[in-house]
Order: sequence, then structure tokens, then C-alpha cells
Amino acid sequence: MADKKAQLIIEGNAPVELPVLTGTVGPDVIDVRSLTATGRFTFDPGFMSTASCESKITYIDGDKGILLHRGYPIEQLAEQSDYLETCYLLLNGELPSKEEKAQFVSTIKNHTMVHEQLKTFFNGFRRDAHPMAIMCGVVGALSAFYHDSLDINNPQHREVSAMRLVAKMPTIAAMTYKYSMGQPMMYPRNDLNYAENFLHMMFNTPCEIKPISPVLAKAMDKIFILHADHEQNASTSTVRLAGSSGANPFACIAAGIAALWGPAHGGANEAVLAMLDEIGDVSNIDKFIAKAKDKNDPFKLMGFGHRVYKNRDPRATVMKQTCDEVLGELGITNDPQLELAMRLEEIALTDPYFKERNLYPNVDFYSGIILKAIGIPTSMFTVIFALARTVGWISHWKEMLSGPYKIGRPRQLYTGYEQRDLPANRD
Ligand code: CMC
Repeated sequence: MADKKAQLIIEGNAPVELPVLTGTVGPDVIDVRSLTATGRFTFDPGFMSTASCESKITYIDGDKGILLHRGYPIEQLAEQSDYLETCYLLLNGELPSKEEKAQFVSTIKNHTMVHEQLKTFFNGFRRDAHPMAIMCGVVGALSAFYHDSLDINNPQHREVSAMRLVAKMPTIAAMTYKYSMGQPMMYPRNDLNYAENFLHMMFNTPCEIKPISPVLAKAMDKIFILHADHEQNASTSTVRLAGSSGANPFACIAAGIAALWGPAHGGANEAVLAMLDEIGDVSNIDKFIAKAKDKNDPFKLMGFGHRVYKNRDPRATVMKQTCDEVLGELGITNDPQLELAMRLEEIALTDPYFKERNLYPNVDFYSGIILKAIGIPTSMFTVIFALARTVGWISHWKEMLSGPYKIGRPRQLYTGYEQRDLPANRD
């Protein structure tokens, strides 16, 4: 894989020869691992130029707007697959046969309930706690409930933990919502599919079980597929880094949830709705566009821009179609907030500032609008992202543990004081 070489010349020194690695597709990478022998490191805050690992799971071409899971385009998975099949694909590398799919779905259904005692854990939280705060705590706490599968060096344990996480995330996510509402938590129903079951646990109560709309369940499933994985983003890298120390999978996923929560990452879907509320009316858009362009103003247009996509976010294209389907199903034709969002998109797409910087609407711009239309409160948006991304996190964690790996330990460019002595007299 390393047939090409790069040379690094540091003034006054002999050239350092570095191997150039070639992937299946995508740019070559310069292997700088041998550089430490020269007593030097590379400097790359934000990892703009650094590949942190080798992976076979997901490929993104940000310039062309391509997203592939195990080689399959996201558009095809969203249209022709379902979330659990996509989970199988991410976890195992290939699409399942009919029998394998049935077995996988059955295993997931066997694990949908959580330990009864986990419910008491919720009572320690304030009712108005943010669901992501509860999620971080409760998912981390799973390691205190499922001791039987915590040996990370045992492939069988890793498999069981992966199944438990994918199966229990909808249950825990819905529990955080029910807790905030003061409603009884709903048990999962294994006669429903993954998305239907989630909507059932969210919106039904023991005294009223309403049927789940197939259109909304399908939309929910698509949202799960579109968020399932996205290679080495901040939260996935966090999961890998936590996992590289040998931490248990539940602790690693809790770390991923924490990283996802920020508004520059998964928290953006909630931030989009907050921003639309703040803008309030179409007549205020120009003022907010000006704020977004002002370097002295921290305001950013939420749901716009991406570290990797510099053309279009393919997830956003599918999400926009889904948005139309959901709004059609619900008969929402003249929602003022939606109108505001569409106008904002139109203006941003034609404004030179956004065009020059390749700032296009990302997946989070539309997902918030759909989730709101389905009746999901904004505080739950990032929880849903976390639920769906769990399979990606756990696939990367499993991939890392299945091969040789080292503890992640970046170095730094130190710019603080040189060594100095404490003053003799400090009275
Ligand atoms: N509004 C206004 N200006 C922006 C925006 C924005 N949303 N995003 C980037 N810029 C500007 C930025 O100020 C910079 O300008 P200049 O070159 O003049 O200094 C230029 O565009 C390049 O941006 P950057 O911040 O260097 O890009 P980045 O790769 O570090 O950040 C980002 C990517 C997603 C964090 C950023 O675009 C952003 O904060 N967007 C809003 C939050 C958002 O929607 N996040 C969800 C990402 S998609 C879901 C996910 O994967 O989590």
C-alpha cells in the first residue's frame, strides 16, 4: 500500500523519507509515524490535515458530495434499505441475507428493554434537565448494569454490547422524554419495527395507544439512516480515543454523546430551531445574515457549512425530500417557521459570502423541521441524532478493537513558560 514516498526537508538536515499510503478511493496520505525518531512532531489543531486511523466503514468525498457506507451511497440506503439493515451493514461490512436480517432484527428485539432498576436512576435528575444530560449519564451507567459483557478483548462480549446499545438507545431516548413530561415510561413493543417502536414509546401512554403513521415511521427510519455514521467526526473520534484506553463500550458511547451535544456538531439541529425562533420573521433575515458575516459577532447560521462537504451535503438532499413528504402527510402547508427556513436557505445560497465559502445547508438544517412537524420537542433533536449515530460509533469502536491499535495520545506545541524556580521569598 506504500509504494510512493514523500520527502520532508527541514533546513540544515538530511531529507526524511516518508511513505505515502493509498486508500481504495480518496486522497493519498503521508505516513508521518516515523517522524518522532527525528525529535519532531506535526502540528494540526482541528485535525484539518490528519487521518487519525485507517477505516473500511464510511467514505466521504466532500467536494463531490458523496457519502458511502461500506461502498453503498447514502441515497440508495435511504430509499431502498431500512435502519436495522444499515446497522447490520455498518457493523458487519456486508448487507445481510434474508435469514441474517431476520436473525439480527430478532436479536435487537430481544434487547430492547432496559434493566428495571435503570428507571430509578432517572429519578436523580431534575424533571427540567436537558435530555442530552440525562442521556450521557444513563448510557454511561449501562456499564454498571451489564457487567457480563464488558471484556473488550472478547469478540463475543463486544458483539453483545453492540446489540445492547443499538437495541436500548430508543428505549432510553424515549424514557428521557417521558421523564421530562412526567408521564409513565412506555415499555418497548417488539411487534413494531425499530422506528415505529420509538414513536410508540415517545407518544403513546398506557391509557391511550394510538396507531403509528407509516409515513411518519418511514420518515423517522430515514432520519436514523441519514445519521447512522459519518466517518471520523468529533464524536466518533471521541469514541475511538476513549476506546483506545481500553474503556468499556458504554463509557465510550457516553463520551461520544457528550461530544455530539455541542452546537457545532449534533447540537446544530436544536440550534437551527432556536435560531429560527430568534429570527422570528422574514423581515429580520437580512439583519441575521449580516450578523453571520460579521467577524466580530459569534453568531453563525446554524445548519449551514460543514468541515468536509464543500459542495452539498447528500444527507441534506434526502432530508429535504423527506421533509416535503412529512409536511404533506401532516397537511402542513403554510407553517411560518418553515417559510422562514426556506427563505433563509434561498438568501444564503445566493449570497456571495456563503457561496465563496461553500456554505450549504447541512443535514441538521432540515432534520429539525421534520422532527418538529412530527411533534418531537427541540430538546430531543440531538438525542435522536445520538440514538441513530450509536451504530456508527460502535462500528468504529469494534473496528478499532478488532485490529492492532495504540492508545490515542496527541502531542502539543508548547508555548508556555520555560522551566523556572519558585521565588525564594513568597510572604
Ligand atoms: N455561518 C456563517 N459563517 C460560517 C458558517 C456559518 N454557519 N460556517 C462557516 N462559516 C465561515 C467561517 O466563519 C469561516 O469564514 P472565514 O474564512 O472568513 O474565516 C469559513 O466559513 C470557514 O469556516 P470554518 O469555521 O473554518 O469551517 P470548519 O470546518 O471549522 O467548521 C462547522 C465547520 C460545521 C463547525 C461550521 O460550518 C459551523 O459552525 N456551522 C454551523 C453549525 C452546524 O450547522 N453544524 C452541523 C454540522 S452537520 C452535522 C454534523 O455532522 O454534526
